[in-house]
Amino acid sequence: MVAKNILVTGGFGYIGAHTVVELLQAGYEVHVVDDLSNTDESVSERIQEITGKRPAFTLLDLRNAQDVEALFSNHTFDGVIHFAASKSVGESAQNPLLYYHNNILGLVNLIASMKKHGVPNIVFSSSCTVYGQPDVLPVTEQTPIKPAESPYGNTKKIGEDILRDSAKAYDNIHAIALRYFNPIGAHPSALIGEKPKGVPNNLMPYLMQVATGERELLSVFGNDYNTVDGTAVRDYIHVVDLAKAHVIAVQRQLDGKQKEAYEFFNLGSGSGFSVLEIIESFERINGVKVNHQITERRAGDIEKIYADNTYAKEELGWQSELSLDEMMSSAWNWQLTLKD
Ligand code: NAD
Ligand code: WQD
Repeated sequence: MVAKNILVTGGFGYIGAHTVVELLQAGYEVHVVDDLSNTDESVSERIQEITGKRPAFTLLDLRNAQDVEALFSNHTFDGVIHFAASKSVGESAQNPLLYYHNNILGLVNLIASMKKHGVPNIVFSSSCTVYGQPDVLPVTEQTPIKPAESPYGNTKKIGEDILRDSAKAYDNIHAIALRYFNPIGAHPSALIGEKPKGVPNNLMPYLMQVATGERELLSVFGNDYNTVDGTAVRDYIHVVDLAKAHVIAVQRQLDGKQKEAYEFFNLGSGSGFSVLEIIESFERINGVKVNHQITERRAGDIEKIYADNTYAKEELGWQSELSLDEMMSSAWNWQLTLKD
């Protein structure tokens, strides 16, 4: 049987690279497009080191409709996984047009070419950010979406709307949006992982740069929340578990098993951990101290969120398998390779 060919946009980024590994290991052909704005091409060699295979690659900015058209004219794809986007919440507040331009135009160009060339399937990176601070926890797929706190969050909501409308209007478009909770951790090989440019905004990369001594102090943003220890609670999910869910979603589409032309799923571990619990777990499993102090709340932060995984479990047969300790140790093993 001829292997199915999957286009992975942003496939050399953090979640994309882990997904490319899982796709290659599951026997798919993979074609990566990336503009390398937040990664570099060495990721390709690392993917080859892990899998023994190298994905096809086209250097391309999805904002350029002509280039996207040329890609679809020159290659045959069975499905698309769309990771490529800008993802910094703070930057999006400062430069919203960059975010609307990159995250929305890229998606529109992609769907237009899919439609024209008869590529029916797309899996989209959405985010739990669409729920804001939910009134009831855990969050199911029925939990109402809240007005976005940031232009970034809005691009995820609008992205979902674009896919829902396209799947409804065009017979040959099927879409699955995956709402990730907080992806952390790295591949067990320590060959791929998250590599933030500049000062990290997110907890794990910042925490680890404090652990290596690169930064002095981790600020814990607020300890007066209504949570187990007063610090904010999130649902952290191992990036390898997340990557595997994409392979399942792609196969669901190829098998014609989608129940609706547009579907959406929560992808979390189902458990919430506080910031202090994360620090404790990291220190314990890795035997390293993380210098930290409580500071003011961060503007725009929500108090607590975690997923109800029932729907993903029932419909996709997917659930997270890797523990918080495995997230912490794999992240640290990867971080240590970045020192050289
Ligand atoms: P990432 O920045 O590591 O990966 C995105 C990749 O897309 C990068 O390699 C970047 O170079 C590429 N890219 C960006 N704009 C492009 C363009 N116009 N054309 C071609 N390539 C482009 O980010 P990630 O953490 O792997 O996130 C992947 C997706 O998941 C994003 O859509 C993000 O919004 C979403 N998401 C991420 C998180 C998270 O916490 N990491 C949570 C929820 C959703
Ligand atoms: C986690 C917790 C912070 C840094 C963001 C986006 C969201 C999604 C995931 C893409 C919070 C606390 C953090 C620090 C801290 N991305 N923290 N000190 O805010 O849950 O979500 O990334 O879609 O859209 O908003 O993740 O890692 O920034 O923060 O105390 O230096 O750690 O307050 O409680 P967040 P995060």
